[in-house]
Amino acid sequence: MPTYSVVTFGCQMNMHDSERMAEVLSAAGYVPESNPEAADVVLLNTCSVREKAEQKLRSEVGRLGVLKRKRPELVIGVAGCVAQQEGERLIKSLPQIDLVIGPDNIPELPSLLASAQTGAPPQVRTVFDYDAPQFLGATVAPTRSPSAGAAVNPCAYVTTMKGCDERCTFCIVPFTRGSERYRPSREVIDEITRLVDGGVREVTLLGQTVDSYRDPSAQLPAAKAAGDGIRRWGRRSASPEDETEFPALLRAIVAAVPGLRRLRYTSPHPRHLTPALVAAHEDLDVLCKHVHMPVQSGSDVVLKRMGRRYTRGEYLERLGMLREAVPGLTLSTDIIVGFPGETNEQFEETLSLVREVGFVGLFAFKYSPRPYTPALNLEDDVPESEKSRRLTELLALSELIRSNHLASLVGQECTVLVEGKSKSGAYTGRTERNEIVHFGCSDDPTGEVLPLRIERALRHSLVGHLLDESRAMDFEVARARVGASSCETLETETSAAPLVLPAPQRLSRHSLPVVAGWAVKPRVERKALPRGWQCTTGALKPRDAARLRHP
Ligand code: 5AD
Repeated sequence: MPTYSVVTFGCQMNMHDSERMAEVLSAAGYVPESNPEAADVVLLNTCSVREKAEQKLRSEVGRLGVLKRKRPELVIGVAGCVAQQEGERLIKSLPQIDLVIGPDNIPELPSLLASAQTGAPPQVRTVFDYDAPQFLGATVAPTRSPSAGAAVNPCAYVTTMKGCDERCTFCIVPFTRGSERYRPSREVIDEITRLVDGGVREVTLLGQTVDSYRDPSAQLPAAKAAGDGIRRWGRRSASPEDETEFPALLRAIVAAVPGLRRLRYTSPHPRHLTPALVAAHEDLDVLCKHVHMPVQSGSDVVLKRMGRRYTRGEYLERLGMLREAVPGLTLSTDIIVGFPGETNEQFEETLSLVREVGFVGLFAFKYSPRPYTPALNLEDDVPESEKSRRLTELLALSELIRSNHLASLVGQECTVLVEGKSKSGAYTGRTERNEIVHFGCSDDPTGEVLPLRIERALRHSLVGHLLDESRAMDFEVARARVGASSCETLETETSAAPLVLPAPQRLSRHSLPVVAGWAVKPRVERKALPRGWQCTTGALKPRDAARLRHP
């Protein structure tokens, strides 16, 4: 049987698409191969939101091209947003490619691959399914990799809509994913029911502007507080189209699937954060106390030029309403720095907004001009060095806010949904607010929702102790059990130097006592680490090695 490997770049939507590709291929008799270099078919599922991802694709195709010279039967396919965006042009510029397939054409993969494998000329299939939108759902509950120790991943993504009707001037998504198409509410609910029956406990609803949802089958009753936006804000800042059926969908899911323990969604657009959505958060315990609400900038002038359709004041007012309704809610966001014409003062307004909201998570990007976007008509006039400076300053602020937030949780009790065991020997779960917590447990609690007490803050996560003492195991004991040498663990302590690790090649037994500590990428160096030393994932910088220490 031919083997396949899917390599994913980009967002959750892309990861979700990759899983669907894998399912379609497995159903057609293809066998998954984790090492792309050994597979008969390699599919590169691409992202084109920022330039970097596109460059990555080009270098990956170059690398596979070398393999293809040795193994001409190797089929290289490009899927996802770059495929949709570039179509035929990709084949012309990268002749190693056999197949270009858009996000809406995944069901056609087996037949296209079958002809590619018979040596047919390169094929391009990038047609949006406007007439009959298809939403491929999971056929079975998703499994974690066997090494992670659990059969079912208790967390799953479910698509509710695709495409985007916003016209943010920087964004290529309306071009690569087309205009908005919504999945019938019944299909969404049925998929969630199936997943929960299969062991899933947490679902994240996925969509490019997930909160613009409208039920094409018109089966949802109006949600509580629907229409209040207009009454509250007037037509200037809230229009009838801001009021969507997303809150009604959330309510319908919770009513129909009682076994669902947690519900999240990503990514919403702030203009649909209406009183009805706030009321849903207030009423539905299953809805998590964390919302990712992309703001992009804290300056009204920049927001206007970005075509975001809200002001800083409106964004803050809507978040304020949500926070009032959901005490303890945490927020994260996306920000672009160095958008055309962004002055230093306007960037400072972004910093002040980040401080004011106290985002505990922040994805920040340097503006990158994208083809077909309206912002291409604006001069990309913020120098690269200035974009980098702003990005660094913003990320430093975000780190500070996050570590203060994590430190403030020490001593508190919270509940985590256990996502599985890490190679460190500890289990990992997430709180409702989305903080990651590592803890020890005497048996496998994957999929359970358990109360624990936070004992320690790390740089990006927490260490906790289960309240149920009959199962609780000290975190350090759990780690020692598996032997530090197989430790995938963690990060540096909040107070320690940045996450820096010795370079793999420097890590010999001889050099360990000098350099190790919160050491190294496990895949490469696990064998090299003696008991008692700990390792971690993360970027390695040799010059910082000496700063590491034995715990
Ligand atoms: N340049 C930089 N960042 C971008 N994003 C989208 N388009 C661009 C671009 N042209 C960012 C936005 C969005 C996230 C997914 O990617 O912050 O929310």
